[in-house]
Amino acid sequence: MEAALTKQMFDVETLRKEFPILKRVVNGKPLVYLDNAATSQKPLSVINAISDYYCNYNSNVHRGVYSISLEASDAYDCTRDKISEFINAGSASEIIFTRGATDAVNLVAYSYGLENVAEGDEIIVSEMEHHANIVPWQVLCKKKNAVLKVIPVNDKGELIIDEYKKLLNNKTKIVAVVHISNALGTINPVKEITDLAHQRGAKVLIDGAQAVHHMPVDVQDIGADFYTFSGHKMYGPMGIGVLYGKLELLEAMPPYQTGGDMIISVSFKGTTYNEVPVKFEAGTPNVEGVIGLNKAIDFIKSVGFDVINSHEQELINYATEKISEIDEIEIIGTAKNKASVLSFVVRGQHPMDIGIMLDTYGVALRTGKHCTEPLMDRFSIPGTVRASFAVYNTPEEIDIFIDALKRTIKALK
Ligand code: ALA
Repeated sequence: MEAALTKQMFDVETLRKEFPILKRVVNGKPLVYLDNAATSQKPLSVINAISDYYCNYNSNVHRGVYSISLEASDAYDCTRDKISEFINAGSASEIIFTRGATDAVNLVAYSYGLENVAEGDEIIVSEMEHHANIVPWQVLCKKKNAVLKVIPVNDKGELIIDEYKKLLNNKTKIVAVVHISNALGTINPVKEITDLAHQRGAKVLIDGAQAVHHMPVDVQDIGADFYTFSGHKMYGPMGIGVLYGKLELLEAMPPYQTGGDMIISVSFKGTTYNEVPVKFEAGTPNVEGVIGLNKAIDFIKSVGFDVINSHEQELINYATEKISEIDEIEIIGTAKNKASVLSFVVRGQHPMDIGIMLDTYGVALRTGKHCTEPLMDRFSIPGTVRASFAVYNTPEEIDIFIDALKRTIKALK
C-alpha cells in the first residue's frame, strides 16, 4: 500500500464491522463493494432500527390513539426535525417524505411545474443529469408547449457556466441541476447556478442524491428552492427519500397525490387538504423507511463529514493514481471538484464485459450508461465502468480491484 495511505484518519476496520454484508464472500472471494453511487450498504444501527420497529411497535402513524401508534408517530415525526437540521432547512415543515429522489423531482414537476410553467416558457437542465432529472421536465414541457434547454459539459465533465449564462433569460421558469454527478463525480457550483437563476426570476431544483452523504449540505446557503435526495444512497433504507422546498412555495403548490393523511375533510361537495408537509404525503407512509433514515443520519454524524470527506478523497486519489498506470484505460470525468466516483472505459472493450469479469473476483461495480444516456452520447461512448467509493471502503480493496482489472484486460486481449 502507498505510504500516503498508511495513515488512516480513523479505524476503518472497526467501522466495517458495523456493515454485516461486507463480510460476504462472492464467487469464492471477499466481496469488494464499489457500487456505492447505485446504493450504499446499511449499518447495523439502520437494520436493527427497522427490525425493532416491526418487532416492537409496528403500527400506522397519525391514526391511532394507542401507545404503539403514538410511538411510531413520534419516531416518524422526529425524523423530520432531524433532516431539517441535517440540511439546515428553515423548518421541519419544509421536509417532505417521498419514495426517493425521483419521486421528489416528479412531485415538483407535476405540482409546481404544471401550475407555473406556460406555453413558450423555458426549463433548463444539464447534459450530465440523471434521467430522473430530465424526463419529468421533458414531460412537463410537452404538456405545456414549453422548451427544454441544456447546459453543455466540457471534456473534463464540468458544466460550462458561460453557456448556462447564455441560456438564462426572462422566459426561464425552472433550472434543475444535479449537485454531484452520479456518472462522473463532478461537484457542481450549485450556489452560483442558483444565484444566476434567481437573478432571472427562475426557481431552482438541485438533485442532491449523490451529495448529502459526502459533504455537508446547507440548503439555505445554496439558496435552492427545492432540494431532493434518497435514503438508500446515504446508508439508509430503500423506498424513502426527501423533498426540501421553501415553505412559501410548498404552501402555494397543489397536492401531487391525494388520499390518506393529506386530507382534513372529505364530502361529495369537496375536500379540504392538510397543511404542508403532510399535504404532499398521501396514503400510509413508509414508516420503516423514515425510522431507518433517522439512524442513517446518526451514522453519518457519528463518523463526521471531515472524516468521510478526507477518507473518500484519499480513496479516489489512490484509485485514480493506480488506474492511470494502466495503458488501456481512459478516465471519463476529470473535473477539478470531484467526489469519490471513478468512471472509465477500457479501450476496445465493452464496459459490461469488464463488469462481468470483475464480478468473478468479487468486485461489484456498475457498468453502462448510469441512467445518463445524453452524457454518454456527449462523450461518444456506450457507457463506462464505474467504481464509486464509500466511507467503509479501503485502499486494500482498491488494490484488489486494480489487480482484477489488470487480469481482466489481459484475459480479454
Ligand atoms: N442512480 C443510481 C446510479 O447512479 C442508480 O447507479
